[in-house]
Amino acid sequence: MPPSTDLEFLDRIEPLFSAKQIQDRVKSMAEELSEYFGDKELVLVVVLRGSLVFAVDLLRYMTIYPEVEFLSASSYGNNLLPGNTVEIYMRPDLDLEGKELLVVEDIVDTGQTLRQIAARLDTMNPTSVRYISMLYKRLPNQANWPVDWFGFEIPDLFVIGYGLDYRQKYRNLPWIGYLPQ
Ligand code: IMP
Ligand code: MG
Repeated sequence: MPPSTDLEFLDRIEPLFSAKQIQDRVKSMAEELSEYFGDKELVLVVVLRGSLVFAVDLLRYMTIYPEVEFLSASSYGNNLLPGNTVEIYMRPDLDLEGKELLVVEDIVDTGQTLRQIAARLDTMNPTSVRYISMLYKRLPNQANWPVDWFGFEIPDLFVIGYGLDYRQKYRNLPWIGYLPQ
């Protein structure tokens, strides 16, 4: 049994996308990506930790056989402020030269994380870099980051589930919901 504080918290969450809606969308994106990348030497670059669940589902629905690498990105302070630093960690001997990359994100909010990952990957001489995010937040009067594919567009809400956390928890919910203001 989960602690009652978890149940009380989850009771306040408004559902946004069901597990079925998510799986249908991820499967259809995996088919599109398999077609798009075809016989290219693709590397999925999974951005930990939030993209873990999405990346695994995407990978399992793919009918091509990409390599898989991991980056970890964490932002500090208020990440709505432009110029805020995002720490990026990767294994020191990671070699992406000449590879076709697909960066897998959970959500694009301000776009600051992807902007800094893009700058870092550019220095590693890949052949191409494409971006996919499960969720894409539409911010009022602000351009965030142009991803190549996204699962669902959402308004400016704080969402949890399907890899997205609230204070590091609830990542394993198979559905996505939002915390009402
Ligand atoms: P950015 O503002 O695009 O740099 O978003 C950075 C990161 O913040 C995302 O990759 C998520 O890990 C996290 N994040 C942004 N919005 C949400 C949310 O609504 N719920 C949970 N995590 C979020
Ligand atoms: Mg993230």
